[in-house]
Amino acid sequence: MKIMVITGSPNKEGLTADCGNQARLGAEASGAEVTSVCLNDLNIGRCRACNNGWGTCRDRHVCQVEDDFQKLHAGLKEIDGFILVTPVYWWDMSESVKAFVDRLRRCEALKGEDQFIGGKPVISVAAAGGTGNGCISCLTALEKFVDHVKGIKFDFIGVTRRNKDYKLKTIFDAGGTMAESLGNQ
Ligand SMILES: Cc1cc2nc3c(=O)[nH]c(=O)nc-3n(C[C@H](O)[C@H](O)[C@H](O)COP(=O)(O)O)c2cc1C
Repeated sequence: MKIMVITGSPNKEGLTADCGNQARLGAEASGAEVTSVCLNDLNIGRCRACNNGWGTCRDRHVCQVEDDFQKLHAGLKEIDGFILVTPVYWWDMSESVKAFVDRLRRCEALKGEDQFIGGKPVISVAAAGGTGNGCISCLTALEKFVDHVKGIKFDFIGVTRRNKDYKLKTIFDAGGTMAESLGNQ
């Protein structure tokens, strides 16, 4: 089974990267083929709310703003499960994650069939390495996204500086458990 780990931090050696790595290792240990994507390495701009609010996202379920979004979006079709890891910025997801999920939900939310995330498990991780403030509101925002794209809410994991030692193990276990559940389907 194929799992994609998506991270959204500019920091390649920070908490977000550690969370993404643990998710990957856990999923791989349970036999998954893992693709890791760092959104900050891609050129994915903000949604333009084309025309008066909707572009081709509404009826054709593709984004008309051409950049690296199209290739990543198309690739999601082949993935069986997703792990999305964001640093907590301003009590919310990071800007790179927000740009991605804003555009993705528009393309996926109104699809009747051939959904790329709908019916597939998603683990959401919020890495709040500062005060820990906003970890829950960030997870709440991620929950709304998972809901909009009709994903299966497999887990929501909040990580702070104080709990990271055991939460990193939890993320490893979560990735592995999700991979196992996909393998058993
Ligand atoms: C612009 C910005 C806003 C941030 N806002 C918060 C916040 O609201 N709550 C918090 O706990 N940490 C906050 N932080 C700290 C990050 O969550 C922390 O540095 C985290 O480890 C970032 O992930 P990284 O290790 O991948 O860089 C903020 C950091 C930045 C750069």
